Amino acid sequence: MENLYLPQIAVIKKIAQETPDVKLFTIEFKDPEKFTAYKPGQFFMLSVFGHGEAPISITSSPTQKGSIEFAVKCVGSLTAELHKMKIDDEIGLRGPYGNGFSADSLKGFDLLFVGGGIGLAPLRSLINYVLEKKADFGKITILYGARTYDDMVFKEELKAGWRKSAQVITTVDMGENLCDGNVGLVTTLLPKAKVNTKTTKAIVCGPPVMIPFVLKDLTILGFADDHIISTLERHMKCGVCKCNHCNIGPKYVCLDGPVFTCAEMKLMTREF
Ligand SMILES: Cc1cc2nc3c(=O)[nH]c(=O)nc-3n(C[C@H](O)[C@H](O)[C@H](O)COP(=O)(O)OP(=O)(O)OC[C@H]3O[C@@H](n4cnc5c(N)ncnc54)[C@H](O)[C@@H]3O)c2cc1C
Ligand code: FES
Repeated sequence: MENLYLPQIAVIKKIAQETPDVKLFTIEFKDPEKFTAYKPGQFFMLSVFGHGEAPISITSSPTQKGSIEFAVKCVGSLTAELHKMKIDDEIGLRGPYGNGFSADSLKGFDLLFVGGGIGLAPLRSLINYVLEKKADFGKITILYGARTYDDMVFKEELKAGWRKSAQVITTVDMGENLCDGNVGLVTTLLPKAKVNTKTTKAIVCGPPVMIPFVLKDLTILGFADDHIISTLERHMKCGVCKCNHCNIGPKYVCLDGPVFTCAEMKLMTREF
């Protein structure tokens, strides 16, 4: 019988320092046959041997073949060990898990991405995917907020790459914003985006504290609940719906999520 908890061995091929506490890792499976197709918004249980595992979203587009990218913020025991690792070191990967974003359900719509902090990592997978298939989608707008300018991830794409085919507006909570000059919470960018709420689907990902505020403001702007799509984060142990660590009401974030519409969230919890 297949052991659900047995990770595949993967090798770190490239490491880039995105911000003082976020590194971008490019990973290849040791056995290339183990590379499996994935959807934007899905995650892997990533293990550093001897130090446990944690769920980490895929940040590369599924159109990138042979390697996978993860943007990881150093926040605790596992991520600190990962940040010490070097090129050619081995890690474990189980997955891909979770429902991911349904790109098909976004076809024909304008898209409004709203990201906060490291939450841009899973959105980047979908952003690069839809930008490659631009003819299938309408106008694309990307709003991004970080604590400070130094904390902004994926600066090259935010400042140059994505601006070729999307409207990009950034903000910082404090200090100088060398990207656009905006200072304030990411919700302050929503009126600046000037999107048509009837023809647009909003896709949101950020720290748990940000999500209810963004969802509330999108609703006030006129977005229907099923046109607001967001990821939810919960502490996970197994990633495969066995341990009961990640449930919200009747739903399991590892299996039914982490991507939910606002309509689904309202049925799960009163938080939204
Ligand atoms: C679906 C999903 C996708 C994710 N994708 C990414 C990603 O792409 N990049 C990324 O950097 N992170 C991502 N995360 C978050 C990441 O999994 C966590 O930050 C993870 O806990 C890091 O592991 P760690 O051992 O380094 O930190 P931990 O030692 O687990 O500590 C992390 C933080 O959680 C707190 N904490 C620890 N245990 C508990 C507990 N039982 N209850 C409450 N708080 C606790 C700690 O105080 C600390 O602030 C994702 C999480 C989910 C659920
Ligand atoms: S992480 Fe174990 S049930 Fe979801």
